[in-house]
Amino acid sequence: MKKTGRTPAFRFWIKALDHLFTDIDWPDVSALRRWNVGLGGGGRHLVHAAIREHGAKVLLEIGVFLGQSARLWLETHPDLKVVGLDPWGDDLVEQCERYVGRETLNKVYPDAQDQADFIADVRTHGVKALALANLLEFKDRFVPIEATSPEAIPALCAAEVRPDIIYIDAGKTIEDLDVCHLFWPDAILCGDDWHWGRTKGYPMRQVVEAFAAAHGFDIEAEHATWVLKPRT
Ligand SMILES: C[S@@+](CC[C@H](N)C(=O)[O-])C[C@H]1O[C@@H](n2cnc3c(N)ncnc32)[C@H](O)[C@@H]1O
Repeated sequence: MKKTGRTPAFRFWIKALDHLFTDIDWPDVSALRRWNVGLGGGGRHLVHAAIREHGAKVLLEIGVFLGQSARLWLETHPDLKVVGLDPWGDDLVEQCERYVGRETLNKVYPDAQDQADFIADVRTHGVKALALANLLEFKDRFVPIEATSPEAIPALCAAEVRPDIIYIDAGKTIEDLDVCHLFWPDAILCGDDWHWGRTKGYPMRQVVEAFAAAHGFDIEAEHATWVLKPRT
């Protein structure tokens, strides 16, 4: 091994950081149409209340998709910055295609031509570019990170990202909560999917309840949204 004073693990760490931040510049998305397609459920006023109550300045969102919830946080809280973590994988194209003719698209774009135009844009530009188009006016307050949780969390922490609040709307695994809490023990954890998967026994509810029991949190939940609070 060369005598650089750096262990292989340290070099790996630095490489991971480089990888995270190389693509942080925004592509020119100004000509893209803004598509108002979101997947979140109700109860997000609980997140707004937590942001206000704690004077949160930085929100980490795990699972951005087309940026609808990120827009909501940024529009509602003018002093808030949002770091958005999402791999924006190719699987999202097929996912969007499955929404054609179904409620997710019908309720916002009842016209079949609009739905066809949406899918054409998704196929041509990809979901990440369309998310950035949706968030363009918040360019100075939104940082897109193209990576997965929980793998990217240590690197974000090492890069001095210090979220006051973390909104989890992604893979429904306890590892997201565990790793976020390990690296940012003071951050408020909240998220979506509380109501999701009734026939599967509400998987995210089980995850949140297990985490809350293990770490001594109370849960406030309404419809899709949950927020953890220190046990009183
Ligand atoms: C339900 S959507 C997010 C919706 C968005 N928060 C909104 O309300 O408009 C879930 C997103 O999580 C992303 N995702 C899945 N696994 C992830 C992971 N391990 N880390 C970060 N994002 C992930 C997917 O790519 C997808 O865009």
